[in-house]
Amino acid sequence: MDTKQNIQWFPGHMTKTKRQIQASLKLIDVVVEIIDARIPISSSNPDLKELLQSKPKLVLLNKCDKADRKATMLWVDYYAQNGITALPVDCKTGKGLNQFVPSIRRILDKKFKAQQAKGIKNPFLRVMIVGIPNVGKSSFINRVSKQSRAKVEDRPGVTRGNQWYTISKDLEMLDTPGVLWPKFDDQKVGENLAFTGAIKDNILDIELLAVDFLENMKKHPTDKFLERFKLTTDDLASNDSYELLQLIGRKRGMLISGGEINTERAATLVLDEYRDGKFGNITLEYPEEIN
Ligand code: G4P
Repeated sequence: MDTKQNIQWFPGHMTKTKRQIQASLKLIDVVVEIIDARIPISSSNPDLKELLQSKPKLVLLNKCDKADRKATMLWVDYYAQNGITALPVDCKTGKGLNQFVPSIRRILDKKFKAQQAKGIKNPFLRVMIVGIPNVGKSSFINRVSKQSRAKVEDRPGVTRGNQWYTISKDLEMLDTPGVLWPKFDDQKVGENLAFTGAIKDNILDIELLAVDFLENMKKHPTDKFLERFKLTTDDLASNDSYELLQLIGRKRGMLISGGEINTERAATLVLDEYRDGKFGNITLEYPEEIN
């Protein structure tokens, strides 16, 4: 299914998902939330904290291959300051995933030891993956599951109907990820999801989208972006985002009759080139923007 086009959340849908997640929570020891390292705020679920209550959480900053490395480190620090482990990973190549099991072990160390102390010889712990559509949940599950699906055994606490993947000798993962919803009443969130291609942008005003994207580039320009359009930092400082879009259109000879600049074409160009990675690795949200 093409989630980019079809995912629509209705109140009823959300209630059902909430109940499913709450039921699954009883079976697992830690929740792994996958978010997009380029947009950690927009790609996280607004209600997860409340849903999880005291359940521990590990955050995977996925697609870090496309994010700005320094910004990703700022996010790792931000989460650490809030007592949460966040791991930068790339589920397409598997980069960073070797830290997954050790991180889970650290988070669950106390629980693990408590089980051993109770005389449980081979304690095993369970994780569940959650995340909004398109963040890379399936890619992650495919990578770490090594295709080994645990049998549904007569083990205490194993509910029939739930399938588990073995990740390591003492760690199992629920095979179906919890598909969460973004904060879709926030326009900025919608724009960020459109920038990264998580949702279709044909319902949005393409020029407005490009102008907002350029606003971001004014704050955090990359060398590749400047080189691509032969722009200087002075150009960024002395033009507002719409003027910048016009400048880009002019530089690329995108004119319509009367010498006017075709800003719609320029907007499409900017967004396409960004998504093709032509401007380098770009992060669109920084920890300082929280609140
Ligand atoms: P989901 O289950 O959460 O909905 O996400 P899924 O794994 O289907 O991943 C969504 C898209 O993101 C896929 O691309 C996938 O390849 C890509 N992706 C996942 N993790 C990473 C990552 O760490 N880095 C990069 N660069 N991309 C990642 P697609 O275009 O839909 O499919 P395809 O081109 O891979 O076939």
